[in-house]
Amino acid sequence: MTTDEKIDEAIRNPQNLGEMTGADAVGTAGSGDCGDMLRMWIKFREDEKGRRVIDKASFQSFGCQTAIAVASMATEMIKGKTPQEALSMSGGDLSAPLGPLPPMKIHCAQLVEGALKNALTGEATPAPGASAPTLADSLQPKGAVKITFR
Ligand code: FES
Repeated sequence: MTTDEKIDEAIRNPQNLGEMTGADAVGTAGSGDCGDMLRMWIKFREDEKGRRVIDKASFQSFGCQTAIAVASMATEMIKGKTPQEALSMSGGDLSAPLGPLPPMKIHCAQLVEGALKNALTGEATPAPGASAPTLADSLQPKGAVKITFR
């Protein structure tokens, strides 16, 4: 199966799509190349060895299909990993199941890597049990103009 076919397949059935209530961490990244944004939520658990590992992750994206496909794969791949293990994963690692990405799509995987690293390094971490703002909420301007997503 080609990379494009794998992306199409991942888009048809994206895994872990949507915000997560009660997440332990949330991270957001935006791409200066294309203006796309991606947010990732992470919930931790303690594993059988007493290590803090990623229990589950979810994402929202205003991004291209490649970013959505990589985020779908990445949120599955990081389950059971320690934060340190997940932090060591590059965009290339996270997109590896899709096969080699064309040069103009490499930043799409880096967008996912950025949101993951932002979540794991503790920036913008919500209070326990709190629901982080949705990506749409965070894009609402502070002034009088309101953007409505349909
Ligand atoms: Fe920008 Fe894919 S084109 S994230």
